[in-house]
Order: sequence, then structure tokens, then C-alpha cells
Amino acid sequence: MFGGKGGVGKTTCSAAQAIKFALKGKTTLLFSTDPAHSLADSFEANLSQGINPFPQIPNLFLYEINAEEVFGKFREEYHVEIKDLLTTCSYLDQDDLDDLLHLSIPGLDELMGLKTVTDFMDSHEFDVYVWDTAPTGHTLRLLTLPGIIDEWIITVARMKWKYFDMMRGFKRRDVFDPQEDILLKMKKLIKKVSSLLKNPGSSHFTIVMIPEKMVIEESRRMAAQLHSYGISVSRVIVNNVYPYNEDCDFCREKSRGQSGYLEEIVNDFRGKEIKIVPAQPREVKGIPLLSFFAKFL
Ligand SMILES: Nc1ncnc2c1ncn2[C@@H]1O[C@H](COP(=O)(O)OP(=O)(O)O)[C@@H](O)[C@H]1O
Ligand SMILES: [Mg+2]
Repeated sequence: MFGGKGGVGKTTCSAAQAIKFALKGKTTLLFSTDPAHSLADSFEANLSQGINPFPQIPNLFLYEINAEEVFGKFREEYHVEIKDLLTTCSYLDQDDLDDLLHLSIPGLDELMGLKTVTDFMDSHEFDVYVWDTAPTGHTLRLLTLPGIIDEWIITVARMKWKYFDMMRGFKRRDVFDPQEDILLKMKKLIKKVSSLLKNPGSSHFTIVMIPEKMVIEESRRMAAQLHSYGISVSRVIVNNVYPYNEDCDFCREKSRGQSGYLEEIVNDFRGKEIKIVPAQPREVKGIPLLSFFAKFL
């Protein structure tokens, strides 16, 4: 997983890392859940929906997950059950329910996106998965979702028990309850995704940052929050670092300005692997530049 503030180089680092894995002979799926998709841009390629093999590099597959679309499919599939569930437990009328079902629940669309990927993991289709995440806020919201849904499930279950207690005299409880089916499925999915992300043996979180005050502050908060969800950051990439050059006023000033922040980062992220990536003279796009960039990771 590559995370961090918008614009720091997450997509570039994930792309370079994925190329590195693929060149080592590992079948690699590079996927993105950032609504501002940029894999196509980074690889200077046209991507279609779903998984795209990347002909220039064998073993590399690219996938821009359209979380809204995946969530839409889920909603379609479970529309009846979700509606039943909500009618049982609330006093909402049909119109309110329709509105509610079309609200986008923050994080849920991405969770559904991740479901697509965990399904691949189940079928062992790829050796490595490289996840280009959305900017910090989005990703953290996604990670708080398991807790929120857990509470939600407990509340719904409680309401249902009350309802069934009340109805016991009138109605026989069916053996198969589709409402419970969907709750169970959701719960299983969340458990699967969160235990996968929390397992340091299988998942690694890299925070990408640049040596600037606000970026460092956000990265620090992100690391703390990830830690509180049980996900530890294993590596920090400090991107866009200017080389010191006595003969160039601009580079010298830039480099001086960054050196204090670099020290701060080294102090703050002591114990993590820290990689320094120099600022490149051009945008890092296309295979030759991404492959060169990969050497710094
Ligand atoms: N070290 C670097 N030197 C120069 N340009 C870079 C460097 N790293 C990234 N870029 C460029 O900066 C822009 C933003 O990078 P990107 O990876 O898309 O960021 P994010 O995914 O975090 O929003 C891209 O145009 C990319 O080519
Ligand atoms: Mg990006």
C-alpha cells in the first residue's frame, strides 16, 4: 500500500514498485482506488475497464478500480435485502429508503473496490498486489469503516431481536433470513480485508512524502492513525529531494530549505526504512523514466 497526501508521488512510487516486482518475475497487479485515476497517465497508456495486461512488461497488470461502479453493482445485487432490513428496523417510508440507498456512504465504495481485489487474492491469481491508495483522508476513512459497520451491525441486530420478540406471537421465523445473510457477508468481507491489511507478514504500508512542513505533519498524523488501526508503516519514501549544488543558486537554496525537514523525518520515523528519492528534471511518466525512478526505492 502506498499512502500519503495528494500530489506527493504515490502513483509514481506504486507504478515504479510494480514494475520492479514484475521485472523480478512476479505476476503483479497494480491497482488504484483513487477516484482521480492516474495509472493510465503515469504509464502513458490507454486503460480499459477491468484488468489490463501491460504488453511492454510481462507479468504486469493494471487495474483502475471504479469504486462507485463496484458499489453500484453491490447495491443492485442486494437492493431488496437492504431495503427489507431497513424497513424491519425503522419507520422510513419507501421514498426515504430509496434516497438512503443512493447516498454514497464514505468508505463503503472503496471497501467494495477492495472486495474485488480480495476475490483475486482468494483465487491466487497474482503473486503481488500493489495498491495506489487515495489521498490520506479517504484512505483513513476506509480503515475506520470496519469499526463503524460493526457498531451498525450490532444496532441492527438489536433492533431485529426486539422486532422478532414483538412479532413472535404472529409470525414464524423463517429458517433462512436474507437480511442476516447480507449482514454476515458484509461482516465477513470487513474481517477479511482488515485482517489482511493488519498482517505484517503479508501487507506493507509505505508513506510517501516530500520534505515540506504540511506534508510531514499530515504524514505523522497518518502514521499515528494507521498505528491505532493496527497497521504499521514499514517504509517512508521521501520524494522530490533536491541535490546540493554549490554552483546553482536555486538548487543550493532548495536543498538548504529541505535539509531541516529531512532531519525531522529521520527523527520522526526512526526505525522505519527510509528511502530518499531525488527530484527529477521531468515528470516521471512512461516506462523508461519509471524504471529509472524504481532504482531509488
Ligand atoms: N521525484 C520526482 N521528480 C519530479 N517529478 C515527480 C517526482 N515524483 C513525482 N513526480 C511528478 O509529480 C506529479 C505527481 O505525482 P503522483 O505520483 O501523481 O502523485 P500522487 O499520486 O501522490 O498524487 C506527477 O506528474 C509525477 O510525474
Ligand atoms: Mg495518484
